[in-house]
Amino acid sequence: MAVIETVLGDITREDVDAIVTAANESLLGGGGVDGAVHRAAGPRLAQAGGAIGPCEPGDAMATPAFDLDPPVRHIIHAVGPVWEGGDHGEADVLASCYRRSLQVADELGARSVAFPAIATGVYGFPADQAARIAVATIRSTPTNVQRVRLVAFNEDTRKHLQAAVTATG
Ligand code: APR
Repeated sequence: MAVIETVLGDITREDVDAIVTAANESLLGGGGVDGAVHRAAGPRLAQAGGAIGPCEPGDAMATPAFDLDPPVRHIIHAVGPVWEGGDHGEADVLASCYRRSLQVADELGARSVAFPAIATGVYGFPADQAARIAVATIRSTPTNVQRVRLVAFNEDTRKHLQAAVTATG
């Protein structure tokens, strides 16, 4: 069972083995956290992403971390669901993003992973529901990852993440 920590900050500053980015299916980069990760990792990230993409919503694929500083060795690209009101399987796709990211982290031998609040920005997923899904999925996914950092970029998201962690003990 991984230890789950919530933190307010910039995921590109995290000292973990792997950071997860909220990507789009092309894996060529975009705005939001994906833009920050691509800016920090450098242009080789888009080349590597383009070579392995597309990535289906709910799936996760790994590349090296390129220009990101150690100890970060891997970037896990997860594609979240676009929020369409909640009746189109969005919760299951979001849960799958966390589950698949942990599975990919295990394949990489990563023991510490940082996640952004996948799908809660451009894709419009309500942050409180997304936080509960993230924590419940991380807690229920068998993994060798020992430390999960849920990185919020704003205080509202951090409150939802912390509430979800506290609620599930
Ligand atoms: N560190 C951590 N979190 C961040 C950072 C950062 N540097 N920058 C933004 N965030 C947060 C946002 O505030 C939001 O809470 O990441 C969360 C996810 O928002 P988005 O980045 O918009 O991702 P998402 O909603 O999944 O939309 C993905 O946006 O950028 C494009 O290419 C991406 O098409 C894809 C879509």
